[in-house]
Amino acid sequence: MQRNKGQVTTLPYLAGQPEVVVPQVQSPIHLVLLGPPGVGKGTQAELLSRNLAARHLSTGDILRSARNLDPNERSPAISAALKYMQRGDLVPDSTILALVEEHLDYLSVEQSFLLDGFPRTVGQAWALDRMLERRDMKLDAVISYELPVDRIVQRLSGRRTCPACKSVFHISARPPRKRGVCDHCGSRLIQREDDRPVSIRVRLAAYEDNTAPLAELYARRGLLVRIPAEGSPEEVFGRSLEILQVA
Ligand code: AP5
Repeated sequence: MQRNKGQVTTLPYLAGQPEVVVPQVQSPIHLVLLGPPGVGKGTQAELLSRNLAARHLSTGDILRSARNLDPNERSPAISAALKYMQRGDLVPDSTILALVEEHLDYLSVEQSFLLDGFPRTVGQAWALDRMLERRDMKLDAVISYELPVDRIVQRLSGRRTCPACKSVFHISARPPRKRGVCDHCGSRLIQREDDRPVSIRVRLAAYEDNTAPLAELYARRGLLVRIPAEGSPEEVFGRSLEILQVA
């Protein structure tokens, strides 16, 4: 991948943290973020999308937004999807693919994008190939963030999210300035329903069974970049940029 090195920009980091200075990489770049639940994909997607002026498409966020709809406005497929999600199970491919197809029209070859939480099954990966081909687009890299399970559970069980602006906090690693309140929009933070221990176990198993095999698939295509997710979000972010520049 050819990347511009040396340009420096100051990134206003989320959740009121100190600004960090990062190298500016050349865009457009089209990425998939892989990794188990809670590894920090959403956190890195937010940082990367600001730095790359990239569109961030998260299937989890799209589904959670549907929860705010009046139940009468939800299609039967979306109502069923929300139940799968609450349990920690994967939503059926047909529902996810219909949602992604709608949102892919907002992506363009000239603009960077990050797909976060999609694809998550081999069937979704093949469907993504076809969707991108039809739009004359292709992926530049697939980042797989990696972290031991005990650290993942710590991250998930302490996560708090803003239902309004989607900012993500952690009770100890990334606390909001005022306890329980979003730094950005002042809304009351919540714990996601699927961040409770019973759902966390189901999500980790779903990842191992369905999503982990995607790393091998993208490795065979020469697209996979494995990145350790240890350390602070800023450290993981710096590592991601560095690897994207030289990969
Ligand atoms: P989704 O919303 O995609 O959830 P996920 O993949 O389980 O990932 P998470 O959002 O839980 O974690 P993350 O890796 O983004 O971590 P985060 O940055 O928040 O999907 C939810 C559900 O929707 C699925 O279970 C499924 O039901 C359904 N679904 C979605 N897409 C689907 C698809 N394609 N097919 C089928 N079903 C689908 O970080 C976690 C915590 O750690 C935060 O508190 C954060 O502040 C903290 N943190 C982050 N980085 C660090 C760090 N470096 N150090 C310390 N703390 C950190």
